Amino acid sequence: MTKELTVAVVGATGAVGRKMIETLEARHFPVKTLVPMASSRSAGKTVTFRGEKVTVIEARPDAFEGVDVALFSAGAKTSRALSPEAAGRGAVVIDNSSAFRMDPDVPLVVPEVNGEAALHHKGIIANPNCSTIQMVVALKPLYDRFGIERIIVSTYQAVSGAGARAVEELMDQTRARLAGERPAPEVLPVSGLPVHHPIAFNVLPQIDVFEENGFTKEEMKMVRETRKILDDPDIPVTPTCVRVPVVTGHSEAVYIETKTPFELDEVYRVLSRAPGVVVVDDPASQDYPMPLDAAGRPEVFVGRIRRDLAHSRGLNLWVVSDNLLKGAAYNAVQIAELLVERGGLR
Ligand code: A2P
Repeated sequence: MTKELTVAVVGATGAVGRKMIETLEARHFPVKTLVPMASSRSAGKTVTFRGEKVTVIEARPDAFEGVDVALFSAGAKTSRALSPEAAGRGAVVIDNSSAFRMDPDVPLVVPEVNGEAALHHKGIIANPNCSTIQMVVALKPLYDRFGIERIIVSTYQAVSGAGARAVEELMDQTRARLAGERPAPEVLPVSGLPVHHPIAFNVLPQIDVFEENGFTKEEMKMVRETRKILDDPDIPVTPTCVRVPVVTGHSEAVYIETKTPFELDEVYRVLSRAPGVVVVDDPASQDYPMPLDAAGRPEVFVGRIRRDLAHSRGLNLWVVSDNLLKGAAYNAVQIAELLVERGGLR
């Protein structure tokens, strides 16, 4: 019989933390005790788990005594401060923030792609960035079959990835603009920067801050994390990350050049059999993945599969997934399931 576990969710009141709790319940994860944690502001609030109200406590080092698995989604600062405290008390931390993703001692895991890596953890496992996760789930089967020489990707990212305040801003701005008003934007593209742009009826070619090379931090996450997850430190990745006025579900136009020639039939076959992938691709009936259809579902949807016009080993794909589920909460719970199944807990 599976041992019942004490599971902490840090950031339990946030957008991803809530989805983590929902996913633990929906997947029947063997939770004996759920310990929802957040900042002191939320201590005493409740969350609902299996129909019962559970009180949120402040995330402090001693709160992790007796915790077996700690799912973190409370920002990099909280993760840096508290993940080692949780791991030091015997928990396995699965961290959704960017704090440890590029740490060579921390596995960066997408179960369908490199699940094995999770078993080599030293107490902390990192959950990749949402845009990276859905791209590598779609590309891994092609990578294994044909090899990939380069990746060019443009993202169409949902506002929920920027947090609850950003979603509120999209809703408020949309209503205001329809009423002929022009409220001053306050959150997007980056809440901590002084300049803001409207997201309603707009697209923003900036997600996170710019690095010196002209790419944004989000774009560089796609570069660095893809290399680490595929264990291919030189694979060229050229991303452009764009915020669009969609609430949930990231879309990506992905172009790859394979190392060996491919037939489209085989691309369809390989993708159709790939774990976690659903092919939705029937131009005759205008069938292709869209964020409204992907929202609330755990899979990665792939369509618009076509050979490039200029390059015989060039392949175009359209990849859509729920950024809060496969892009965050579901991937984290899948990692926890893998640890339970393969004896990876401490
Ligand atoms: P709180 O609601 O108490 O601020 P989101 O990504 O949707 O903004 O959610 C962020 C989550 O991280 C929330 O649950 C938030 O709790 C939590 N959080 C923020 N700062 C801290 C902190 N210093 N310690 C613990 N949890 C934090």
